[in-house]
Order: sequence, then structure tokens, then C-alpha cells
Amino acid sequence: MLDFIFKPESIAVVGASEEEKKIGHVILKNLLTQGYAGKLFPINPKRKEILGLKCYPSVSAVGEKIDLAVIVVPAKVVPSVIKDCGEAGVKGVVVITAGFKETGEEGAKLEREILDLIKKYGIRMVGPNCLGVINTELGMNATFAPELPPKGRVSFFSQSGALGVALIDWAIGSGFGFGKFVSFGNKADLNETDFLEYFGEDEDTDIILGYIEDVKDGKRFIEVAKRVAKKKPVILIKSGATEAGARAASSHTGALAGSDRAFTEAFRKAGVIRVEGIKELFEVAEVFKSGKFPSGEKLLIVTNAGGPGIIAADTAEKNGLKLYPMSKESIEYLAEKLPPTAALYNPVDVIGDATSERYAVVLERAMVDPNVDGVCVILTPQAVTDVENVAKIMLEKSKETEKPFVGCFIGGPKVREATSYLKTNNIACYEDPLIAINAYSKLVHYVKYKHREEDEYIKFPISEEVKKEIGFMLEALRDAGVSVIGEENAMKILSLYGIEFPKRGLARTADEAVRIAEQIGYPVVMKISSPHIIHKTDVGGVKVGLKDEKEVREAFVEMTINVKRAMPGAYIKGVNIYEMVTGGKEVILGVTYDNTFGHMIMFGLGGVYVEVLKDVSFRLTPVGKREAYEMIEEIKGKKLLEGVRGEKPCDKDAIVDKILRLSQLVEEFPIIKEIDINPYLVKEVGGVALDARIIIG
Ligand code: COA
Repeated sequence: MLDFIFKPESIAVVGASEEEKKIGHVILKNLLTQGYAGKLFPINPKRKEILGLKCYPSVSAVGEKIDLAVIVVPAKVVPSVIKDCGEAGVKGVVVITAGFKETGEEGAKLEREILDLIKKYGIRMVGPNCLGVINTELGMNATFAPELPPKGRVSFFSQSGALGVALIDWAIGSGFGFGKFVSFGNKADLNETDFLEYFGEDEDTDIILGYIEDVKDGKRFIEVAKRVAKKKPVILIKSGATEAGARAASSHTGALAGSDRAFTEAFRKAGVIRVEGIKELFEVAEVFKSGKFPSGEKLLIVTNAGGPGIIAADTAEKNGLKLYPMSKESIEYLAEKLPPTAALYNPVDVIGDATSERYAVVLERAMVDPNVDGVCVILTPQAVTDVENVAKIMLEKSKETEKPFVGCFIGGPKVREATSYLKTNNIACYEDPLIAINAYSKLVHYVKYKHREEDEYIKFPISEEVKKEIGFMLEALRDAGVSVIGEENAMKILSLYGIEFPKRGLARTADEAVRIAEQIGYPVVMKISSPHIIHKTDVGGVKVGLKDEKEVREAFVEMTINVKRAMPGAYIKGVNIYEMVTGGKEVILGVTYDNTFGHMIMFGLGGVYVEVLKDVSFRLTPVGKREAYEMIEEIKGKKLLEGVRGEKPCDKDAIVDKILRLSQLVEEFPIIKEIDINPYLVKEVGGVALDARIIIG
């Protein structure tokens, strides 16, 4: 628990100053004048008194218990101050000072030094290079932002201090309440996951917001976020592309993943709501403030203007919401109460001359109607619209139901007061139907996550001998300097984990090729086998549909001559003879690796669909059964797998089985960084992989 940072009983400000322009002065003044009631100790060896408080030469000279020290002395002095804090038994430090890792190697060295010291003394640290900590409930402003934001039940953590200052100012301007705030700067010790965990446990926090640029420990982040998001919404902005080289992208799968995909997948796995910018962050947060959650996707739109109703309906559908008409009884009731020109279906249009009574009629029915899980109330301020009354009715009715209402009051001065009245009463109200519905749909998706059961993680029985065999093989290849494992070895490893490949054999002579072809049965496919040739077709190293002994013999000779001519230096092991597989649909299965979150499995339709349309889906490992099915559902071309124009559907279970097997393989052999299985032919029943590549590192 980090209560000693967010609810300290006593705070020392080290580097407190008399000079008004200095940060050490501002922070002490903020703490002294904005409501913090705990004990305050200014520390500065040059002063006897600052802002009327007794000043001490060092933290250890105070002689009383100190929970938190806010450090605002120049960087080179910070280590000695931390040492002093350690000797004095301080539990937490907030290092505002800049000039550490962010400035280069010298600074990084200094940062390591203070990190060693806090570890030695068992101190927890926020920063360095941060804005500080706020708890509005305690009137505690341990930052150099001039004012506290209004009180509220939304807490915020930020990797950027400057953004923090801007947000606090914005919150003051718009009346958006915050509970706790922390800017964690270089996060040398405490990082995003620690604050997420703390806010998750914090009884005064209902909604968690955050701004992050990277994540320190991806696996722990997912584990904690998953748990916290089950309790309360976590809404994050993630900016900044992954550092160059953070992801090895030598495989097809890696290239398709791009630099940001792992974050999207991590957030999805953990139920974190991702938003793109600051405005959206607050727009989405608003919708969660009512604490009411829709029990499903059925949204009713009620409007006094046709156009905005249509925009809302379109946006709702795009976001997967369901716009059902209300029940027969409700529609009959509305027909009786509303004018004949009103539209009774969904959106319900109470038309331009509607007063608040018409809205009330619709809301009353919506509250009890089984076809409605939540309502979006759209209003444009027309001549007879009693805007304030509509807002009052919304609030009144919302008190009688668990179904969430959101407002969309479009206009300027005429709707301003009503909008702010609703917001103050925790009913979200927007000025654009698109934004209103986007925010509302985040609420619906969050509820789905909240009630989602834990996925089923399947463990295929792989014997210890098999694991040992693969382990030896991978290590031997690595020791031999191999990073890209080609067809034969890749097939061998993947076969041991239950991925099917065609019957095959390696022939070193034409006679041997014929013998193997006869064992397999005609027709066969022949491919040159050489560790130096990756694109076999380009050098004439592939022949398909060979029907008899003669064709196989000729192909063997022609192929070896072709390849020797095209690549004289290449070592040729022989020619692989494969069973010729026909039918089925080409899909691609792959694995890529992200330095923050680990392995991701990819699935997509093969050929042009992956090359041109990049129609693929990803999930981080370990992949659960539900996630594997979602991967198939997610791709745009999924209908092609279900069978079009009288075709039989493909075996989705076989694809799921392969996704789960790949997930298990890479979890058990982390040395594998990437895999491409391209294509995998999926048939009516089962499937078979035609080519594979594994990259280790
Ligand atoms: N213990 C206590 N006080 C000490 C001290 C010590 N060991 N050593 C020095 N001090 C005092 C100084 O005497 C001074 O007090 P004074 O005004 O009475 O002389 C005070 O601490 C501050 O030191 P000073 O040298 O005047 O530094 P500063 O106030 O100009 O700058 C920082 C200090 C921390 C603000 C500055 O180094 C810094 O890092 N600025 C950037 C902060 C930032 O942007 N952070 C990230 C935000 S997102």
C-alpha cells in the first residue's frame, strides 16, 4: 500500500526556499495553504524559518516520524538527501528534481545511485523528474501546479508532468473532479503498474485514468490491470511508438504487427479502455461517472431532431450497439401519448416542437422496457424546447433506474447550463452525437469485460522427452549461429507440437526421389533443400503436380541444375518430396515477439488477403480458447471461411487448435521469437501446413 505517499501524516519538503520563484517555495506554500492538515517540515540548512514554519537543516534533524519527503534540491545533492531520509526512517520520497536518466549517461548513473540507496533503505520513490503527488480529499498539493483541481472520485497517473499541469488547469476550468493524481516521471522505482494497483484498491477512486508512454513490466501490467479493470474502469492514453528495434520484425508476422499492436492487445486482454487523446479521455470518463452500467447492448435513442438521431444511430451500429424498437406495449403507449408525426421506433423522434413532457413519456417507458439497456437523449434547442426541464427530467428518471442515460444537447449558450447541470449530477452530456455514442459504447464494452468469465487455457499433453528433444535442437541451432530455422527443422519442431504437415522425405538422388514419391503416392511436390535458399521459387527450386516416375526423375535433375546455376555457392542438401495437398483455404498462422508484452499469435487469410489487405488478428500469449475463436471472428474475410456460394465451411476448430498449440509452444520455448506458417490449408475437416519458418533469438 502506498498510503504513505498519498495519505502521509507528515511531509518534509527538502529544498524548501524563501524565494517565491523557486519550486521548493511553491510546493511548501501549496501544502501549507491549500488544506493539507498533516505535519509539515521545511528542510534547508541555510534557513531558520520559512513561511512561518520552523526550518530544519536536515531530515534527520527533525526527530519526528516523517512519512513522505518531497525532494527539490539540485540533482547532485539528491543522493545525500536520500541517504539522510533513509537514516531518518522516511517511508516515501517524491523526487521532483530533473537531470537524471532523461539527460544522458551521467544522469542515468546518478539515477542508478539513488535507486540503490532507496533499495538499501527500503524507501519507495516517485520520480525522479516528476511533478509530484496530489490528494484533493486531504487538500494535499505536493506538486508545483498552482492550484488543486476540484474534489472527485477519478484518479489519474501520468508519465508526463507537463501534461499533468495542463490537466489540472483544465479540470479547474471545467469543474472536473479528481481524487488522487501522480506524475511519475522517470519511474525509476514506482511505475504505472504500482499506481494502477494502488488506485484499484483505493476506496476513494471509482475511475482510473492514465497517460503512459511505455510500460516497464508488460506481464505484470496485464496481470494487475486485468484484476483492477474487473473492479473499476481503467481508461488510458498510450502515446509514443515502441523504440526502434524494440521488436524484431524479420518475419512476415512481425512486420504485420507494427509497433503498437502489442499495446492494443495488452489493453484488450486486460480490459483497459484505450483512448487516443486527452479530450477523449475525459469524454469517456464522464460516461462512467454515473456508476450505472447497461446490462447489454440495446440502446434507445430519443431525439427532437432527425439528423442527429441518424448520426447517433449510425455510430451506434458501427460500435456494435443494438438499436431495437421498444416492446409492442411501449410502442402502443407512445402512440397514444405522442403526436401522430412522432417516429415511434428507434430512434424515437419526439419531433421539433417537443417539450419536456414528451421526453418524460419516452424515458418512463424506456426504464421498464426489456428492449432498452440504456438511453441517449438528444436535444436541439428549438423554439419551444424547455431545455432545463429536459435535463431535470433526465436526472429525476435516472434516479429511478439502473439503466444509464447519456445526454447529447447540441448547441451553444442555450444548452450550456443544462449540460453543466447534468454533468454536475454525474450524467454525461455531450454536444455531438458521435462523441456521445462513442463514449457510451465504451461503457457497453467495459461491462462485457467486467462480466466476462475467465478464458479457458488448454494444455496439450507434450511429453518431457519431446520437450527435451526440441530444447536440444533449438539450443544446437542457436549455438551454431542459426537464427532462421527453415522448412525441415521448423516442420519437425512444429509437428512435435501437433501441427500437421504433408507426408514428406528428403531425397539426395533421383532414385531416392522416385522411391520416396512412390511411398507417398503421386502426384507429388518437389522443393530444393538448402539452408542458403529462402525463396526457392525464384531460383527454380519448386515443382508441383509431378505425376509419375519419369516426371520426378526429370524434375530432380532440372531442379538441381537450375539452382546450381542461379546460386553457385549454395549448399544443396537434396530435394524434398511432399505429398501434393489440394483443396482447402489458405490461411496464415504466425508468432511475433514484443519486448514489453512477449509473444503474440497472429491469424489471417493467406495469399492476397494477407499481402494486400493485411486482414489479420493478434492475441498475446497465453491465448485462451475464447480468444482464439475471437481471432477468427475478427478478420474481415471470415465469411470466406464459413463458405460462400455453396462451398462447405472450413474447420474453425482446427484453426483454434493450431493457435492454442502455437501459444503453448512459444510459452514453453521462449527462445522462439517468431514463427510463420504460411500457408496453412484449412479444410472441411482438419488442415495441413505447407510451409513454415521459425526465428530464434
Ligand atoms: N537540503 C536542503 N536544502 C538544500 C540542500 C540540502 N541538502 N542543498 C541545497 N538546498 C537548498 C538550497 O539552498 C536552496 O534554498 P535557498 O533558496 O534558500 O538557497 C534550495 O534547496 C533549492 O536549491 P537551488 O540550488 O536554489 O535549486 P533550484 O531551486 O534553483 O532548483 C530544482 C532545484 C530541483 C527545482 C532543479 O534542480 C530542477 O530539477 N528543476 C526542474 C524540475 C522539473 O522540471 N521537474 C520535472 C517536472 S515534470
